[in-house]
Amino acid sequence: MPVPATLLLPVLLGLSWAGGARGFARLNQDVELRSAFSVARTSSMEGGPKMTVTFDAVYVNIGGDFEAKAGLFRCRIPGAYFFSFTVGKFPRKDLSVMLMKNRNEVQAIVYEENSGEERKVQSQSVMLQLDFGDTIWLRLHGDPRYALYSNTGHYTTFSGYLVYPDTYDYQAQQHRHNSPYAPRQAPPQEHTAASEDKEAAAGRDLPGLTDRKMPRVELEEEEEEKRHVKEQEDEVEEVVEEEEEEEEEDEDEEDDQRSAFSVGRTQSIMGVDQRGMPQHQPVSFDSAFVNIGEDFNVTRGVFTCRVAGAYYFSFNVGKLPHKTLSVKLMKNQLEVQAMIYDDSQGEKALQSQSLMLALKPGDTVWLYSHQKDGFGAYSNHAKYITFTGFLVYPDVPAPSATSSQSKAGERKP
Ligand SMILES: *[C@@H]1O[C@H](CO)[C@@H](O)[C@H](O)[C@H]1NC(C)=O
Repeated sequence: MPVPATLLLPVLLGLSWAGGARGFARLNQDVELRSAFSVARTSSMEGGPKMTVTFDAVYVNIGGDFEAKAGLFRCRIPGAYFFSFTVGKFPRKDLSVMLMKNRNEVQAIVYEENSGEERKVQSQSVMLQLDFGDTIWLRLHGDPRYALYSNTGHYTTFSGYLVYPDTYDYQAQQHRHNSPYAPRQAPPQEHTAASEDKEAAAGRDLPGLTDRKMPRVELEEEEEEKRHVKEQEDEVEEVVEEEEEEEEEDEDEEDDQRSAFSVGRTQSIMGVDQRGMPQHQPVSFDSAFVNIGEDFNVTRGVFTCRVAGAYYFSFNVGKLPHKTLSVKLMKNQLEVQAMIYDDSQGEKALQSQSLMLALKPGDTVWLYSHQKDGFGAYSNHAKYITFTGFLVYPDVPAPSATSSQSKAGERKP
């Protein structure tokens, strides 16, 4: 069921000047447009017929969309969500936990093949575009040689939250109406007749609010690594949803302050000594979960900032046995921002890293895997290698004399 108009209207009318100036995509969300959960598990779990990972410690469940006992997040508000999970490795067991969408769509995986005694954790994160009723859950591999470890120390956690609700187009219209980026012709009290007409006109389109208007490429697959899941067939099904209502969107593009990408790579990376090759080639990707604003060039592997602001980035990379893992998050030419490094021997595992960066339009962000023999990164159809980034807060434009005046004026009762 789409968010009903009666619930939306107070939200839209509640958009304030100050709130509209910064981070309005998330700060101004009324209670009705919030969804977030963070849960943990206090006991270990062995692979078996019941593969859904359930949770018994609930830290946050805003909107009540996560059923901890069932281990199921159910989308109530259509939009783009960020998910992350960390699972513990059980001593002398292998680890394979997949983030699932609905019944069989593998989105991303945590994996470690290591019969060692040690306990440790592995993490993965991804951003997904969800429709009403979509479910997200974690699946432990059904074979008893797999297990995940947890105890009252809460090794195993699962979190997710709504970053951009699909009602954004409507919010953006309101934002433009109140926008400090454009000179204001009238004080806010006077936006009555004209704006009501506008709101009424927009209101007529409410059934369309939940339509995805941003271009979206989504890979849906029923695919797991053959070595680990014999019963699954080795077939990748790619469903590319075509852009809808492209023309309609053009109008809003300038004001669209959403920017988000989440991409996966289904092939390993092998470092080779090769003279004459261009230095420092970005890691490229072959599947996009989301690419809101189209700021990420998937085949090139480069994000180019369009909207100035603070961005969150996270990346996850699989380690190849007997290869050194060295993957760096780069900004612009060769500015290293963060890195993953693992030179342990004979292990297949996953490494993760995340950070926030303040970006200006034109800044590029990309991943670099060391291009030398002996280095490499592991992936397959289950997408161990993922890269996600999204705008958290757009920059606030420097206040001009007029805008600070009207701001001050607005604070008066
Ligand atoms: C992505 O980058 C490649 C290589 O530079 C380029 O040929 C292609 O046009 C770009 N795609 C988009 C959508 O900009």
